[in-house]
Amino acid sequence: MEVGGEGRVHRVMESTLTARDRVGVQDFVLLENYTSEAAFIENLRRRFGEKLIYTYIGSVLVSVNPYKDLEIYSKAHMERYRGVSFYEISPHIYAVSDNTYRAMRTERRDQCILISGESGAGKTEASKKILQYYATTCPVTDHMSTIRDRLLQSNPVLEAFGNAKTLRNDNSSRFGKYMDVQFDFRGAPIGGHILNYLLEKSRVVHQNHGERNFHIFYQLLEGGEQDQLSKLGLERNAQKYHYLVKGCCPRVSSINDKSDWKTVRKALTVIGFHEEEVEDLLNIIASVLHLGNTQFGEGEDGETQITTEPQLTYLSKLLGVDGPALREALTHKKLTAKGEEVSPLSFEQAVAARDALAKAVYGRAFTWLVAKINQSLAFKDEVYNSSKGSSSVIGLLDIYGFEVFQHNSFEQFCINYCNEKLQQLFIKLTLKSEQEEYEAEGITWEPVKYFDNKIICDLVEEKHKGFISILDEECLRPGEPSDISFLEKLEDTLGGHAHFVTHKLANGKTRKAVGREEFRLIHYAGEVNYTVNGELANQSVNSRTAGSSDNQILSQCFHREEVTTQKRPETAATQFKNSLAKLIEILMSKEPSYVRCIKPNDAKQSGRFDEALVRHQVKYLGLMENLRVRRAGFAYRRRYEAFLQRYKSLCPGTWPNWQGRLADGVATLVQHLGYKPEEYKLGKTKIFIRFPKTLFTTEDALEARRPALALTLQTSWRGYRERAKYHRIRNAVIQSAWRGMKSRRKARRRRHAAEIIRKFIKGFIYRHYERCPENEYFLDHQRFSFLMTLVRNPPKSVLDKSWPVPPPSLTEASEHLCRLCMQNMMRAYCRRIQPEWKKQMEQKVVASQIFQDQKDSYPQSVPKLFVASRLGREFNLKVIQTLGNDKVKYGVAVTKYDRRGYKARPRQLLLTSSFAVLVAEAKLKQRIDYAALRSISVSSLTDGFMVLHVPSEDNKQKSDVVLQCDHVIEVVTKLATMADKKNKVNISQDSIKFAVARGKEGVIDFTSGSELKVAKGKKGHLLVTAPQLNPR
Ligand SMILES: Nc1ncnc2c1ncn2[C@@H]1O[C@H](COP(=O)(O)OP(=O)(O)OP(=O)(O)O)[C@@H](O)[C@H]1O
Ligand SMILES: [Mg+2]
Repeated sequence: MEVGGEGRVHRVMESTLTARDRVGVQDFVLLENYTSEAAFIENLRRRFGEKLIYTYIGSVLVSVNPYKDLEIYSKAHMERYRGVSFYEISPHIYAVSDNTYRAMRTERRDQCILISGESGAGKTEASKKILQYYATTCPVTDHMSTIRDRLLQSNPVLEAFGNAKTLRNDNSSRFGKYMDVQFDFRGAPIGGHILNYLLEKSRVVHQNHGERNFHIFYQLLEGGEQDQLSKLGLERNAQKYHYLVKGCCPRVSSINDKSDWKTVRKALTVIGFHEEEVEDLLNIIASVLHLGNTQFGEGEDGETQITTEPQLTYLSKLLGVDGPALREALTHKKLTAKGEEVSPLSFEQAVAARDALAKAVYGRAFTWLVAKINQSLAFKDEVYNSSKGSSSVIGLLDIYGFEVFQHNSFEQFCINYCNEKLQQLFIKLTLKSEQEEYEAEGITWEPVKYFDNKIICDLVEEKHKGFISILDEECLRPGEPSDISFLEKLEDTLGGHAHFVTHKLANGKTRKAVGREEFRLIHYAGEVNYTVNGELANQSVNSRTAGSSDNQILSQCFHREEVTTQKRPETAATQFKNSLAKLIEILMSKEPSYVRCIKPNDAKQSGRFDEALVRHQVKYLGLMENLRVRRAGFAYRRRYEAFLQRYKSLCPGTWPNWQGRLADGVATLVQHLGYKPEEYKLGKTKIFIRFPKTLFTTEDALEARRPALALTLQTSWRGYRERAKYHRIRNAVIQSAWRGMKSRRKARRRRHAAEIIRKFIKGFIYRHYERCPENEYFLDHQRFSFLMTLVRNPPKSVLDKSWPVPPPSLTEASEHLCRLCMQNMMRAYCRRIQPEWKKQMEQKVVASQIFQDQKDSYPQSVPKLFVASRLGREFNLKVIQTLGNDKVKYGVAVTKYDRRGYKARPRQLLLTSSFAVLVAEAKLKQRIDYAALRSISVSSLTDGFMVLHVPSEDNKQKSDVVLQCDHVIEVVTKLATMADKKNKVNISQDSIKFAVARGKEGVIDFTSGSELKVAKGKKGHLLVTAPQLNPR
């Protein structure tokens, strides 16, 4: 939706289709009867009536001058068009500006906007709106704001020097303008360049009734300071200057020269003109006025002379040229063909020479001005030089449309030729882009019927045969060229061409319409008669005097060589042809957009739509031709997503959302809508609809569906709203219930915990009391935790004697448990035990029964394993043989002490199953039958002495044996076990008595000392000192 200037609501593109009876179509391609000029104009009229001044022909913008300020150019409007697709919003000059800008940014291609239309149609305004749009919406840094300001300020300066009030337009541009705006890679304006074409110089010396000279003259006189005017020799009264009053209207109500002067002065400063340059420029302006007031009279000899001396003085001062030289230049002509000879001019000739000089001076000053502005707009910052390569350009062409007057001169010829060329370009590029779009979308191109105006362009510019070539030839040939001979030459060469007619060549009917000094060109936009009168005189320029000027601008503009050279300068027509060719080349290298301006009436009145005038322009702008080319294929094309988005509600298959490929969605939709195959084509990304009718029917269907759709939407919206509300409430209820439950549970847990803690503390206090309600929880807990500790951490092995401390109530149970546990472990241990180990253990048990707590060396012996025999293979074979069947079960090395002298002798003690035997090498020294062994004595100390007591009355036995051995505990245990004398082992504290011989006794006394010592004592006792053990 768009809110119009007067608060009215205008709907966008497609929406407007339904309201087309009121505001017409926004795009002419949607006109049902697109070949009808009347329908075209009617559409324009309707829209104009609604203050809708813009309409599209495809991508071409047609603009009708409203002649009043519409509120559609605000910053808010600019923002609305920024980045929005061309067709999504109503037509506007900003849409074209934005579209062009975005195309430049995204496709990185230079663009140009061609603005055409006849005088007063709004071209310059359009170009200014575009420039303002860029100045406002493009990103700008501080640095670039200077360039932006200069770009904007170049307009008032150029308008002051190049615009004038004409009958058609109070601010008519009297020159063609092409302006390049250069953007950097970020899209910020960084420079500009202006090309100017064909300034209407004749206006300097002559204006038609009701018209004025260029604005600058009036601005200077009205706004210039008194000092300045005096210096220039000027009076503040335009009526005093002949060149300013030809049209008899130096003052115009719509123009405020005084304030415009201020604007121009400020603009000149912004652009960067130096004071001296401004001064030189004003000198030229003033000198033109003085030239205009320079009068001629006849001297005494009939020669022409200047009658206004003060003017001559001012002129020579302002232009910086020598007075006499100037006088001579204005009254004499130099005959180049005859050397340095000069000949006097007639009165008329002198007037013409004066006017020619005025025109030339002004014209060149204008060219200099443009060059100067270009210097100031030039992109030259070193910081940004690197981005130069990536910069892009948008060109703006503001040039006249076709002009047809009563009398059409060389200027009209150039303008119309220029338009002919631009139409050529339009046809070429439009068809090309149309063809490219079809190709990109994969749609077959069907040839379009249109009028190609190349034939007319050729007629004008073809080499050797064309109009301009003939004109050149005529000017350059020796002798005086004449208009008549030129016309004849044209007839000779161009006669018979379908687009060229003269009075002589025409048939009866046309002959009346073409004068004798005229030729007619049949342009693509219509027929125009041109007069050849003065055509040739217009082609050369008087530049003699100005070449030697002190005025910097003039001396730069007029080169000396130009004056002295013998070569004839290029004719104005050729100059124009060449500059036009260059312009076309520039435009061809860019992607064009078009703005076609139309003026609705000649009276500059708002709200008046003069159909005849508009029809004339529609014809001359070639708009019907534009439309025909555009409509040759398809009237409407839109990207799939946009099309589907708009019309999806018309088909159940695509409503409310299409999930598949867009192309399939559109195919489903159009099938449902009953489109016939010839009515549309599906491209790669777009649907093309051939006739507007098809689209209108679809749009009508959408309109009809709208109430139902609105109802459905309303219902579903209400349903959605209620559902959402219900969900919200439901969620709230569930949430609060859940939260309540959670908090209750938490509180319960907390209460429970507090209770337990309380019980625990109370129980702890009463722990030593009988079981009672106060301590039962604590006691149970104690019991439970004792039992759980046991379960979790029971004793690991039979040797592990750790056991948790039981609570008093469980002391007895704990003992039972401990015992059971031990038994269990022992049982398990025993089950696991090996036979050798069992034997070892049995022996150790016997040893413990005998020695535990009795003999000091016992504790040391506990960890040392008993072995099967200490002798290994050291048995003497002979001894083995002697023993025969009695197998040796254990053998150990011992020391035997004699009973009398206590002499120590090494022996082996061998134990068999029924006796023990002492062996010395191979000899059996003493055999002790186990049955005869009475007892065994050992001391309680750490020594290794043992005494085997045997009965002395037995002759076979040699009496008691005193032995010493390192393994006394092992030997005694084995012997006592084998001999079954476990109860016969005596452990004596300090002495052992033993029988020496019958009736005789020996004694061994034991004492503790630092080391083992064995010695014979005084009383015949054997003294043994046993080493004391270190206290453990
Ligand atoms: N969009 C617009 N809104 C309001 N007024 C406009 C608009 N366009 C043009 N005008 C009015 O029309 C006048 C003439 O417009 P403009 O000078 O742009 O015409 P032009 O086509 O450049 O004519 P010329 O060929 O003579 O230079 C402007 O001075 C202005 O008053
Ligand atoms: Mg203009």
